[in-house]
Amino acid sequence: MINPIFLALDFPTWQEAKQFIDMNELQGVPVKVGMELFYREGPHVIEKLKADNHPIFLDLKLHDIPTTVMRAMRNLSALGVDIVNVHALGGSEMIKWAKEGLLLGGTGKNTKLIAVTILTSMSDKTMNDELRLNGTVNEVASHLANISYQSGADGVVCSVHEAKQIKHVCGSDFLTVTPGIRLKQSDKNDQERIATPFEAREKGADILVIGRSITKAEDPRKAYEQALEEWNRGYK
Ligand code: C5P
Repeated sequence: MINPIFLALDFPTWQEAKQFIDMNELQGVPVKVGMELFYREGPHVIEKLKADNHPIFLDLKLHDIPTTVMRAMRNLSALGVDIVNVHALGGSEMIKWAKEGLLLGGTGKNTKLIAVTILTSMSDKTMNDELRLNGTVNEVASHLANISYQSGADGVVCSVHEAKQIKHVCGSDFLTVTPGIRLKQSDKNDQERIATPFEAREKGADILVIGRSITKAEDPRKAYEQALEEWNRGYK
């Protein structure tokens, strides 16, 4: 993938998302469409973005019984997006069937299946005390990544801080998609485990998802360019 920075299109309507893209000259950049926009606009938003040549990560985080996820994936497959995802906490059977559904749908052969490990908004304390999952977030995320890998997923969504360990366990080709990215001078908002694009690259992330650091920036175009620049500095 040439440009690894997916802009999170966390807008309530297509009109607002499109206006943001056009006003800031972000035509054709990779985008992530989440629940907010998809539940409002439906598959048409994907068709529109595809027509405008945006690589697309459809972030719906499916989590249901294996059959239901398989059938949903079969339908999503027809959209021909680049990346879709499920929650790894749905278990190995669900992940296997998700992959099966993508392949049954025809065009999904080229769609990468990514599993969400532990949300980057989650702290050790919340995970241990509320969800009663033992261990550190890092350990649980690595375990879930391994299950995802064994079940045929192409990669995981994880925090930058888990990427290296996950690559170590699942191999360098296993994709690590990392949200929780903040440019210098940005607010942390509700994300806990954050990193800059430079750190992300250093720590083995393949794809970055960035929302508010760009969408809420004074000059979003400049912020997007800064993210790319920080990422590219990781090459040197
Ligand atoms: O605004 P911010 O950069 O925090 O946006 C992060 C985006 O990535 C949001 O759209 C959020 O839904 C998504 N995401 C996340 N953590 C995950 C998976 C997805 O923050 N583990």
